[in-house]
Amino acid sequence: MSGGIAARIDPGLCAPGLIPYPADRFIRFSGVFHFMTMSFEGRVAIVTGAGGGLGRAYALELAKRGARVVVNDLGGARDGTGHSDAALKVVAEIEAAGGEAMSDGGSVTDYGHMVRMVETAKARWGGVHILINNAGVLRDKSFAKMEMEDFRFVLDVHLIGSANCTKAVWDTMRDQAYGRILMTSSSTGLYGNFGQANYGAAKLGLAGFAKTLALEGQKYNIHVNSIAPTAATRMTQDIFPPALLEKFRPDLVAPAALFLVSDEAPINAIIGAGAGVFQAAYVTLTRGVALDQPTPEAVAAHWTEIASRDGEIVPQSGAEQAMTIMQRLQGV
Ligand code: NAI
Repeated sequence: MSGGIAARIDPGLCAPGLIPYPADRFIRFSGVFHFMTMSFEGRVAIVTGAGGGLGRAYALELAKRGARVVVNDLGGARDGTGHSDAALKVVAEIEAAGGEAMSDGGSVTDYGHMVRMVETAKARWGGVHILINNAGVLRDKSFAKMEMEDFRFVLDVHLIGSANCTKAVWDTMRDQAYGRILMTSSSTGLYGNFGQANYGAAKLGLAGFAKTLALEGQKYNIHVNSIAPTAATRMTQDIFPPALLEKFRPDLVAPAALFLVSDEAPINAIIGAGAGVFQAAYVTLTRGVALDQPTPEAVAAHWTEIASRDGEIVPQSGAEQAMTIMQRLQGV
């Protein structure tokens, strides 16, 4: 892993032992420094939808770095129908590599099951520190052709499913005064995509869910963030040409996911990640104008000024927008 953390330690050959990082913690290393400084030793992580694609890549990397991982996956088809033992296979992979994991074949849409999954992990490993809400399905169609059942189903898996899992771990994380939660948003939610009205609604809903939980969790040391991945998985199998499959490997998204559930995780960030490129996405607010005569005609006449991005900000809470309105009224 490159970046801020590794940059503080000189790479190369060193004497085996313990080195302090940061001041009050230590990294165990074997003599050759491989930029593997981000440890998840002692952490218990739940990754939903980890039977394949991105979730599998996150689960493997977390386990490789010392986390005990609950691999949740219903194992259905891309549209959410059916069931398989996909989670068991990833657990076997983790164990074969010397890691620790348990499988859970339940659906994230079943709140009672998610509560039991968390209880099982706590009983076996003593806590739950990390939740990656990753499970997802697709039922793409233009809105004109979309049945409301497909709209509801996609929201149920992505949005309600993530709320179910988050609710199931929330009190545990509060009691522990430690938690890291990652929501899986999408470029479709942030920016829109033809034929994905249901998916886009769910995915921006998740970013909004994360923003409020980030505020509520902060004082309990629960950091909540979002990721908008781009990877060649079965979900995107119709989009990526064969030549790009290797470039957009799911494991190239995992570094962002792991950073966002690490001790060093920021709060309230949205990272776009794909093919080793990492970006930050923001919800911004322009300065706007205070209109003496607030009529529809006046809004139309001032639209260019209202939409101007000069001096735009990134509010850290909804209340901040109300504060900027007060400032405009006071002529600031
Ligand atoms: P994937 O289809 O390989 O993985 C999704 C997994 O979720 C599957 O293994 C599936 O069995 C599981 N799942 C579905 N419904 C479930 C349920 N009710 N309970 C438990 N597990 C369930 O697809 P991929 O690409 O790995 O997607 C992972 C996440 O990333 C999804 O939330 C997806 O929307 C999101 N995403 C992916 C992008 C990409 O480029 N691959 C782009 C933007 C977002």
